[in-house]
Amino acid sequence: MTTKPEPVQIAQLLAEFEEKINAEIKIEPSDWMPDAYRQHLIRQISQHAHSEVIGMQPEGNWISRAPSLRSKKILLAKIQDEGGHGLYLYSAAETLGVSREQYIEWLHQGKAKYASVFNYPALNWADIGAIGWLVDGAAIVNQVSLQRTSYGPYSRAMVRICKEESFHQRQGYEIMWRMMQGTKDQQMMAQDAIDRWWWPALMMFGPHDSDSPRTSNAMRWKIKRETNDVLREKFINKTVPQAELIGLKIPDPNLKKISDEHYAHGDINWEEFNQVINGNGPCNQERLEHHIRAHREGEWVREAAFHSDLRKQ
Ligand code: 3HC
Repeated sequence: MTTKPEPVQIAQLLAEFEEKINAEIKIEPSDWMPDAYRQHLIRQISQHAHSEVIGMQPEGNWISRAPSLRSKKILLAKIQDEGGHGLYLYSAAETLGVSREQYIEWLHQGKAKYASVFNYPALNWADIGAIGWLVDGAAIVNQVSLQRTSYGPYSRAMVRICKEESFHQRQGYEIMWRMMQGTKDQQMMAQDAIDRWWWPALMMFGPHDSDSPRTSNAMRWKIKRETNDVLREKFINKTVPQAELIGLKIPDPNLKKISDEHYAHGDINWEEFNQVINGNGPCNQERLEHHIRAHREGEWVREAAFHSDLRKQ
């Protein structure tokens, strides 16, 4: 039974924790950490893990409808990667003292979020291109920054995940490029896809810094290394030239180039964002019901894996 440290000891522990953060020394699971830091990580890492797994749904619907064996193999590989990313992140989240079962229960009870972008429908093959190019492209910008996060297991998971994300973004961009080289109908499909996925991809970075309740602690504890708006601008500045290169038009009438590599953009529809993150997006119910059903149907696999572990002991 661990005894609760005395106030003077807590002050000492807090000073040591802050010294490590300032010295860029990773905080490890067995280190003392303020409970608020732990709770912040429990929330963010588990929601990140949920996003990776739920993000498999919109793409999974298109495996059997991929237009060629090559595109089917690429999509299968990408979706398998996402499942692996979820596993790395659940493992990192479990080091904070909460079980995977508990994380999944909070998700099923609607107490945990996942990335808003996955609550939009993937309507055709061009959407699979737009998801890989824009959603994974946004995830790369966010996750490359998170490689430097102060919590050791999260940082190491990010390093692993980032190695695979650039393939995800490239395969999506190739789909869009091929469609823009295709028939008029294919070009219209690609433009329609970016029209529907551009703004939800910008929303992935979260509210503006001035409206982000979590960002100040996240930056203070070096959980986030760059703010929502800084990362969003990085993504826009990188992606607009890619769209222009293949003849796609960014669906933002207020987008304008303000310097060689920087763009100003139009207002994001935060009303829509808040609706989606509070469960009222186009596919929230479908995504959660699917996850609950798949989790129930997968019970026998977990049982078999658990008992095979027991037999080994
Ligand atoms: N979707 C859903 N919820 C979001 C959100 C989004 N795009 N952006 C913000 N929120 C939520 C936050 O979770 C927070 O709610 P909570 O307190 O109930 O958790 C609230 O809105 C306020 O937002 P903040 O900006 O203050 O919160 P954070 O500091 O946590 O920033 C974040 C939000 C930028 C998403 C940050 O949590 C983060 O960087 N998370 C890790 C990255 C991540 O989760 N990415 C999800 C995509 S994974 C993916 O795309 C897989 C790829 O391979 C396809």
